[in-house]
Formats: sequence, C-alpha cells, structure tokens
Amino acid sequence: MKIFVTGAAGFIGFSLTKSLLKKNHQVYSIDNMDNYYSLKLKTARIQILKKDKNFHFKRVDLANKKKLEKYLKNKEFDIIFHFAAQAGVRYSKERPDKYIKSNLIGFSNLLSSLKNKNFKIMFYSSSSSVYGDSKIFPLRENAILKPKNLYAKTKIKNEKEANKFAKTFGKKIIGLRFFTVYGEWGRPDMLIIKMLTSMTKKKYFELNNSGDHYRDFTYINDVVSILIKLINKKKFNYKVYNICSSRPIFIKKAVQQFKLLTGYNLVKNIKKNKLDVYKTYGDNRKIIKLVNVKKFTNFNKGLKNTINWYKKTGYKFF
Ligand SMILES: NC(=O)c1ccc[n+]([C@@H]2O[C@H](COP(=O)([O-])OP(=O)(O)OC[C@H]3O[C@@H](n4cnc5c(N)ncnc54)[C@H](O)[C@@H]3O)[C@@H](O)[C@H]2O)c1
Repeated sequence: MKIFVTGAAGFIGFSLTKSLLKKNHQVYSIDNMDNYYSLKLKTARIQILKKDKNFHFKRVDLANKKKLEKYLKNKEFDIIFHFAAQAGVRYSKERPDKYIKSNLIGFSNLLSSLKNKNFKIMFYSSSSSVYGDSKIFPLRENAILKPKNLYAKTKIKNEKEANKFAKTFGKKIIGLRFFTVYGEWGRPDMLIIKMLTSMTKKKYFELNNSGDHYRDFTYINDVVSILIKLINKKKFNYKVYNICSSRPIFIKKAVQQFKLLTGYNLVKNIKKNKLDVYKTYGDNRKIIKLVNVKKFTNFNKGLKNTINWYKKTGYKFF
C-alpha cells in the first residue's frame, strides 16, 4: 500500500515507518526537522529509513500551506498517519507559538490539502492529556475533557476539527489518544530517555513532584502492532480510541526500578509542575476489541529494552 506518514523523524512516526517498510509498503513522509529535541536523533532515524528504497522523504513544514500543497499535488495514498506535531506538555508554556503553528495551523492545512484526495482512512495522533485531572479511572473515551495546558487544548481542537471535516467531506478519520509511549528510539524530553541522558552526563535528574504521579506507560512495539493492525480495518464504531496498556505505574516506583537496573542515583526531588496531570490511566477495551491485541508488554521488560538500546546506540544522539 501507499502510506503517508507525517513526522517520520519523530519517535512514533519513525517506529511505525520502520515496520511498514519491513512489510513492503511504500511510505511517503514529511517532517520539518524541528529542533525541539536532538536533531542528531531525528537525522539518525531518517538515515535508517532512507536505506529502504520504498521510503520517500521531504522536509516540509505543515505550517507552510503552499509548500505542503505543492508536495501533495499529484500524490494519492491509501492510508494516512498524521503524527507531526509539537509534542510535550511543559514546553507549551515556554513556546506557545509552536503549538499554534504546528498543531493548529499545521493540522488545518493538512486537512484542507487532503480535501480532494481519495484515501481510505486517516489516523491522527491525539493525547491522553485531553482528559486533564480526573477522579474516575480508567479514563474512557467519552469522559469529560478537562485540559490543563495549551498542548491538550490543541489536541482537543484537532479532534473537533477532524470530526467536522470527516462529516463535511465524507472521509474516514480516526483519532488516537496515545498514553506515555516509551521505548527504543524514544523521546529525550520524556522520563526514561531523560534519565538516561542525565546518567551519561553524570548530572542530577530533577524529579517532578518527587515522583508522586502515575503514568499509563505504553511500549512502542505494542503501539506499532496496534497501528499496523488498524491499516486493514474497515469498520470503526468510534471516532477516537485510547492507545494505552491500561496499567498505570507510580513514577516513584519507575524511578526505583531504573536505579536498580542502571545504578544511577542522582535524583533530585522538585516541586509539582502545574501543567502536569496527577494520573493517566486509560481504558483500552475499545482498541482491544477493534484490533484484538493479545498482550501488552510489561513495564520492566520495556524499560530493560530501552536501557539496553540506549547503552548500545542511543547515547550517541544526546
Ligand atoms: N510519545 C508519546 O508518548 C505521545 C503521547 C501522546 C500523544 N503523542 C502525540 O503523538 C504524535 C507523535 O509523537 P512523538 O512522540 O513521535 O513526537 P516527536 O516529537 O518525536 O515527533 C513529532 C515529529 O513532528 C515533527 N513536526 C513538528 N512540527 C511539525 C511541522 N509543523 N511540520 C512538519 N513536521 C513537524 C517533528 O520534527 C517531529 O519529528 C504527536 O502528535 C504527539 O503529540 C505522543
């Protein structure tokens, strides 16, 4: 199949593209190679993908509508995965402009450029952040949304726009609310790779709210398996699905496990960041029913794999 993946230089986009290429799909991708985190890492991901003749990459910014339309002119795809966005919760306070540009303007530009295309289905990334702080767990897709930061607000706006667009233009568009995806080739602004980087640099790691948080960690290989299975699905009963293992991990425990596995001990407790939610714990029954996932990777195993990858290759990119 001909598949369009936005954000293949990013963590999830790269991991999915690698797997799509292994299955002999043709993958077209764009990314603006934004410098939010290590460009060495993003470039290394693209270099790996470029080894496959079925991978076609162009540096395009979604916010540049003219360039985007030019890129898409005369191209048709079977499936679209839209993962390019400004990710990260805390950074949304520092650089709100990037969230407006990539997540709002970029998202609208992409939809409008796809209006007259005949793709079978488009999947786009939303986030567990849309739920905000809740007292009712596990979080179901129809829960009331209480966004706590600009990042979450941009994702809610995407969901609304996608639904309206799908209805107006008769397209199939499905939102995927990812919950703390981690693993090999992961993001350096997220807990595990951030700790690994601090370890290599022999620096203190600042632990928010002394680790008094829960996150529904979801291993990248599980996410990719789900995404691959989604490609052949024709019937969707919902417009949005939680993508999570539904096993919240207490951050303090995750950090302890990390210390045990690595011997790293330079953790400094800091106070709570107001933008962070206390707990994410999603209900994954809808996605399990849809794609028939058998099992999610246990956190300790995923953590070990991530550490091993980092020790072998990952350290070079940070
Ligand atoms: N990783 C997670 O745990 C997680 C959780 C919830 C939601 N998400 C969402 O999933 C998607 C993928 O996340 P990720 O972890 O791979 O993030 P990532 O930052 O690694 O990847 C995003 C990619 O998009 C590119 N990009 C950003 N703005 C762009 C623009 N204007 N034009 C073109 N490319 C642009 C970046 O350069 C980057 O390579 C994002 O939408 C993110 O918000 C991720």
